[in-house]
Amino acid sequence: MKNTKIGIVGGLGHIGLIQGACLAELGYLTVAYDYNVKKVEEILQGKLPFFEPGLEETVNKTVKNGRLRFTANVKDLEETDLIFICVGTPSLPSGEADTSQVYAAVEEIARNRENHCLAVVKSTVPVGTNRKLTEFLKDNGLSERVTMVSNPEFLREGSGVNDFWNPSRIIVGAQSKEHAEKVAGLYSPPGVPVIITSWENAELIKHAANAFLASKISFINEIAALCEKVGGDIRVVSRGIGLDPRINPYFLEAGVGFSGPCLEKDLKSLISQFQKVGEKAKLLESALEINERQRNAVVHKLQEQLGTLKGRRIGILGMAFKAETDDVRDSHSLPIIRKLLALGAALTVHDPWIQSFQQAGLDEGEFPEVRWVTSPYKAAEGQDALLILTAWPEYRNLDLQRLREALVYPLIVDGRNMFDPQEMQALNIKYLGVGI
Ligand code: UDX
Repeated sequence: MKNTKIGIVGGLGHIGLIQGACLAELGYLTVAYDYNVKKVEEILQGKLPFFEPGLEETVNKTVKNGRLRFTANVKDLEETDLIFICVGTPSLPSGEADTSQVYAAVEEIARNRENHCLAVVKSTVPVGTNRKLTEFLKDNGLSERVTMVSNPEFLREGSGVNDFWNPSRIIVGAQSKEHAEKVAGLYSPPGVPVIITSWENAELIKHAANAFLASKISFINEIAALCEKVGGDIRVVSRGIGLDPRINPYFLEAGVGFSGPCLEKDLKSLISQFQKVGEKAKLLESALEINERQRNAVVHKLQEQLGTLKGRRIGILGMAFKAETDDVRDSHSLPIIRKLLALGAALTVHDPWIQSFQQAGLDEGEFPEVRWVTSPYKAAEGQDALLILTAWPEYRNLDLQRLREALVYPLIVDGRNMFDPQEMQALNIKYLGVGI
């Protein structure tokens, strides 16, 4: 058993639960605290709050061997000496990240203990937050109890457990080397680079990484727009440039753009951090604008083919923001659905893992004229067009002839470039991808 006792705040969120379960698997006694009593009760009955490959097994094993425990009582963190803050930092309407949950978490930890602990911020926070939190603790006479450390996470949904075990790097921002090494030493597999640096650098690394990934996607989407005009094929262009090791092949898939709870939010937050210091993040603003354009482009393609969308029936394949997750938070599918509804379309939606707006935690009343179905063929039946928004692997094996027969007009707009345009043409399906 390892000596350090770990606490997690936001222990039932996507990052907190993975972090807690994997550290417990490593042998640390871990207490995962979440203020959401209902979620805590549910996990105690064996029901995980979301799906993540490999997570359920790790949770079950570590709960059983007594290393992982869940609580809705912050007092249970009192005995822990290193607490990860894994709470949300959602976008405010201005684009700025709302750090109120992080402040609340740090204050709650500090007010509910006597002994000293490290509060390690996993949440993505604007540059300067750890310094401000330190001042906040000092102003409130709490600095003897809590010392701030920044340790940004780079876990991707759908492969979060695997990413925990195989990190590309470990970044720790702290004021003292001893504290930084304590955090880095929890889990640093051999050969994995560790960067120990200032709070500010650690906070910037996280934002810059996500902004770079977002910009890379917008870059390829920009080239895709030119491909459509001049008869190029973005898939070939993407492969051709990705083979250059200085570029690499990742995050070069053109499509309906990036979405989900991180990339867009972090990009907006970084743009607002530039604004705060009187600068303009020209490249990042363009990346965001191109992303908006990608969402509008699929709607325009439907309009161009069908004339008006008023009264048109459109089947939608995919609600999740990407495949292998049941997460619809900030999914691109939502603004696209709202836009189609505003234009008067009636929608039939399929997603292999999400069966209703209610299941997705959304208000059904906000989406009139939407019908959910349990098979992709049903989503196509009697529809004027099919719109693909998430690259679920099972969609790749669809019987295209059957889809064609189900559709009233053989029109497929594919926001994920899942099919071969020539095969579609041979079946007399009008197929419009992105940049092909
Ligand atoms: C991201 C970061 O990758 C991760 O390091 C960070 O910790 C959290 O944010 P995640 O949001 O899980 O992870 O998803 P990611 O795999 O990065 O995909 C984000 C979006 O970009 C998805 O909508 C995806 O479909 C889209 N995408 C990705 C593309 O459109 N093209 C690509 O080539 C790659």
